[in-house]
Amino acid sequence: MTTKKRTAILISGRGTNMAALIEAAWAPDFPAKIVLVFSNVESAPGLKTAQAAGIRTQALSHKEFPSREAFDEAIDEALTALDVDLVCEAGFMRIHSDAFVQKWEGKMINIHPSLLPAFKGVKVHEQAIAAGVRISGCTVHFVTPALDGGPIIAQAAVPVMLNDTPETLAARILIEEHRIYPEALKMVADGHVRLENGRAVFL
Ligand code: GAR
Repeated sequence: MTTKKRTAILISGRGTNMAALIEAAWAPDFPAKIVLVFSNVESAPGLKTAQAAGIRTQALSHKEFPSREAFDEAIDEALTALDVDLVCEAGFMRIHSDAFVQKWEGKMINIHPSLLPAFKGVKVHEQAIAAGVRISGCTVHFVTPALDGGPIIAQAAVPVMLNDTPETLAARILIEEHRIYPEALKMVADGHVRLENGRAVFL
């Protein structure tokens, strides 16, 4: 196999998707190696999970920086210092500056708990239940300047039950997130899918 892609994961919270990526990346034939878990929240529980797995972590609060651009420059420095090839956002609840997104375009992916382009932004499960959809799900996509609008790499669907709360729906979708995120990272890392002229192109 060619060299594993050096991959960083950005988190803000509990990091269950991060844990799924770390777990998948232990496989000898997985084409990505997790070299850093970065958080904008110093108390993010996911940092402890990553440390327990022996992964390098770094936390920097965005509140310490004068602007979005300055914070993203600090993230970029952390990534560049470790020769990072790919970035996975896994519950990273900060919007990036355009400069950062442009620099990492085609190399940065995100997971979102809806079937995009439906239900972007926050309170996603509340939006799905309020809309009365019978199916929801999750999406892994390339990150582009359009919020939750980048080209789609992978999706999975789940039913929405009549008695679902945002919590029960979130839990059903999360199981699928943990399944498709490692698959999507694998496809990006081994070159099976790439971003070309604003579209996801599959080999
Ligand atoms: C996940 O459901 C992820 O899809 C969502 O945050 C949760 C993080 O959980 N991300 C977004 O809403 C991004 N727009 P986790 O920290 O346990 O992976």
